[in-house]
Amino acid sequence: MSLSELPQPAEAPGKSAPYLSRRTFAIISHPDAGKTTLTEKLLFSGGAIRAAGQVRARGERRRARSDWMKIEQERGISVSSSVMTFERGGITFNLLDTPGHEDFSEDTYRTLTAVDAAIMVIDAAKGIETQTRKLFEVCRLRDIPIITFVNKIDREGRHPLEALDEIQEALALDVTPMTWPVGMGSDFFGVYDWRNKRFLTSSEGRGQRFDSVREVSGLEDPVLTDTVFANVMAELEENVELGAEAYPEFDREAFLEGHMTPVFFGSALRDYGIEEIIEFIAEFGPAPHAQPATARVIRPDEPKVSGFVFKVQANMDPKHRDRIAFVRLCSGTFKRGMKLKHVRAGKTIAVSAPIFFFAEEREIAETAYPGDVIGVPNHGQLRVGDTLTEGEEIHVTGLPAFAPEVLRRVRLSDTMRVKQMRQGLEDLAEEGLVQIFKPSIGSNWIVGVVGVLQLDVVIDRLKVEYQTEIGFDAVQYNTARWIECDDDQVLRRFLDASRGSLAYDRDDRPVFLFKNAWEVSYVGEKNPEIRFRETREIV
Ligand code: G4P
Repeated sequence: MSLSELPQPAEAPGKSAPYLSRRTFAIISHPDAGKTTLTEKLLFSGGAIRAAGQVRARGERRRARSDWMKIEQERGISVSSSVMTFERGGITFNLLDTPGHEDFSEDTYRTLTAVDAAIMVIDAAKGIETQTRKLFEVCRLRDIPIITFVNKIDREGRHPLEALDEIQEALALDVTPMTWPVGMGSDFFGVYDWRNKRFLTSSEGRGQRFDSVREVSGLEDPVLTDTVFANVMAELEENVELGAEAYPEFDREAFLEGHMTPVFFGSALRDYGIEEIIEFIAEFGPAPHAQPATARVIRPDEPKVSGFVFKVQANMDPKHRDRIAFVRLCSGTFKRGMKLKHVRAGKTIAVSAPIFFFAEEREIAETAYPGDVIGVPNHGQLRVGDTLTEGEEIHVTGLPAFAPEVLRRVRLSDTMRVKQMRQGLEDLAEEGLVQIFKPSIGSNWIVGVVGVLQLDVVIDRLKVEYQTEIGFDAVQYNTARWIECDDDQVLRRFLDASRGSLAYDRDDRPVFLFKNAWEVSYVGEKNPEIRFRETREIV
């Protein structure tokens, strides 16, 4: 079920219900489009950090803490996701960070299950790139509303109309320009907010950092015509005129349903467009959505607390071996110390030290509302996909696990350390970093990942955290599929006949290991009653 089909929260019990002021969102982009820079600027603008440049600096410090994080540093990629909260004008913004590298995309997909909106950052010169498109498709599956930020307009980029058409055509989405660039590259003067008749520019002149908002009466205003080159003005006039004819007006409902994206042109590096994005999200939302779950839908205005784990992160504090489960609240008013039912385990846990994450600090979360994300320290009880409730037997649905595309057999140098290795792999599987498969025949585990970089992280973390050296050997398989069948007898016969290619995941679900794509279709055709699934719900 997509989000727009779900019953949305009623405006009663009052527009003042705290969850209505929550804005929980993520930024999606292809690496290098400017996600980190935009994150910094949003946090700075929201007062969460004192100087832009700190997200990166903080990242460096964090990376220096353990070996596996050095991988991030060496390869210049950002691996770990987290949440950062800031408040402005009575609105609480929860920004969920997502890894940009495609090898860690599973993590990103799961994070997207915990947001209500996404900002899609596009490089003005490069347009829509592969990773943007993939992440956009995930958002579309869930009808997550998308705000588009066409970044780097201070450099030479595509013509704005071309950029808008590309988004519209490539993503089959209605676009509506909210702002226009006033020149690009060496002729970059700023941004024109055509609806509010504002010219965002720099008092220091062309190409400089944004620091000045000039009210204008329209495109003929001398504030514009006296500063901006005539050819740039002519093009701006043409864009605004053509844009008004060619693209629909902003329609809030279409935006909330995920059918229309407002497009802001800007430069994260030079501060153009940041305020506009924040103001837009504050005004047009969306507020927390209803959450699909087994048996029923959870509404944010329900009195009882529920939430789900979308991410587990280890090593946030190297002095403690605790892991933090990031829980997105779906309903109710959470209070510190509450006892919540851990539905999968059938146990009750007391959430005594929940954490809120701000950019520069953490705080004990005394009270949290739907849309908020709390960190719950634990020793491995909580894993990705787990649901917490005030007693109800219900599981949040929609968190995918993907069939791995890279399979390797684990090689252990010191066989005395088999226990540590298994514990380590189990722990990393709980975090969602790898999947483990226990072959039906033979005892060496097989690990599956979506991208090869994950393997480096596994080797490094086992060495550092579990003092266990492992390597990986190639296996003859390259694809895994979960096996499902409605008829138990057929299933049992199939499993008996396939033992050579069979393994079990950590929840003991049967998985078929295929040698190649040909075998996938061959075995599929031979066994029409069996379903071979590429994804499965984590429940
Ligand atoms: P990412 O997280 O999406 O991977 O991108 P990131 O913000 O790290 O930005 C990638 C590069 O693009 C950085 O340059 C950054 O400074 C630059 N950039 C981001 N926004 C803008 C913009 O609005 N205009 C221009 N001209 N550049 C922008 P870098 O040289 O790779 O890194 P750095 O040495 O500047 O940190």
